[in-house]
Amino acid sequence: MELKDAINTRKTTRGFTDKPVPKEILEEIVKQALRAPSWGNTQPWEFVIAGGDVFTEIKQAYLDKAEETPSPDLPFPQQFPEFIRERLPYARRQQPPDNRDPKEVLKERQVMGSRMYEAPAVIYILTDREMYEQDGRSKDTYAIFDCGLIAQTIMLLAVEYGLGTVAAAQSVRCPEVLREKLEIPDSKVIVLGILIGYPDTENPQYKIYSDRVPLEDISRWYGFE
Ligand SMILES: Cc1cc2nc3c(=O)[nH]c(=O)nc-3n(C[C@H](O)[C@H](O)[C@H](O)COP(=O)(O)O)c2cc1C
Repeated sequence: MELKDAINTRKTTRGFTDKPVPKEILEEIVKQALRAPSWGNTQPWEFVIAGGDVFTEIKQAYLDKAEETPSPDLPFPQQFPEFIRERLPYARRQQPPDNRDPKEVLKERQVMGSRMYEAPAVIYILTDREMYEQDGRSKDTYAIFDCGLIAQTIMLLAVEYGLGTVAAAQSVRCPEVLREKLEIPDSKVIVLGILIGYPDTENPQYKIYSDRVPLEDISRWYGFE
C-alpha cells in the first residue's frame, strides 16, 4: 500500500466487528511504529495493550462511570476560540450520510463512545511522569508531542493490516480504572488510548468521512514562485 493511500484511508473508525485482532499483528504494528521520531531520540513512550476479558471489564467499568466527570491524566481542553469551535462536529456544515440530523449522529456517537465503539482491543500510550512533569517546574509537552507522533504512525500502519483505529481521549477519561486493571503505577502518565479492530463498515458512524479546512486558509508561503 502506498503511504498516501494509507493517509487518505485512515479515518476514525467508530464501529468495530467483534473479530479479535491477533496479538502477533498488534505486536508487529507497535514494533514497526517504534521508528517514529522523538526529541533527542528519547522515545518517551510505553505501551499497555489490552483485549479479551480484561478490556471487556474496562469497558463495563467505563459504562458504569459514564455519568461521572472525566478525570484524565492530561486534562481535556475546556474551551476553544470561536474559529476553532466552528470546526467542531456540532457546528460542522457537513451533512452526515442518509440525510440524518447531525445532532442525532453526535448523540449516537457519544453513546457508542461510552462503549468504546465495541473495539476488541486498545493500545494505551504512557509516558513517565518524571519526564513529563520536569520536577514540577514545567510540563515537557514534547514528550506528549512525541507520543502523538507514534500514535499516528500506529494508526497508519493499522490501515495496512486492514484495521481501523480511534485515537480516543474517551478511553483514558477514568485513569483509576486503567491503573487498577492494567497495573499502571502513578509514576506513568496515561496519554492516549488507540482503539483498534476490524471496521464494521455497515455502521452508520463508520460511513462518516470528516472534512478539512483547505490549505489555502491556513498557510502562507514565502520565497517560492
Ligand atoms: C488526541 C485525540 C483524541 C481523540 N479522542 C476521541 C474520542 O475520545 N472519541 C472519538 O470518537 N474520537 C476521538 N478523536 C478522533 C477525532 O474526533 C477525529 O480524528 C477527527 O474528528 C477527524 O476525523 P478523522 O480521524 O476521521 O479524520 C480523537 C482524536 C485525537 C487526535
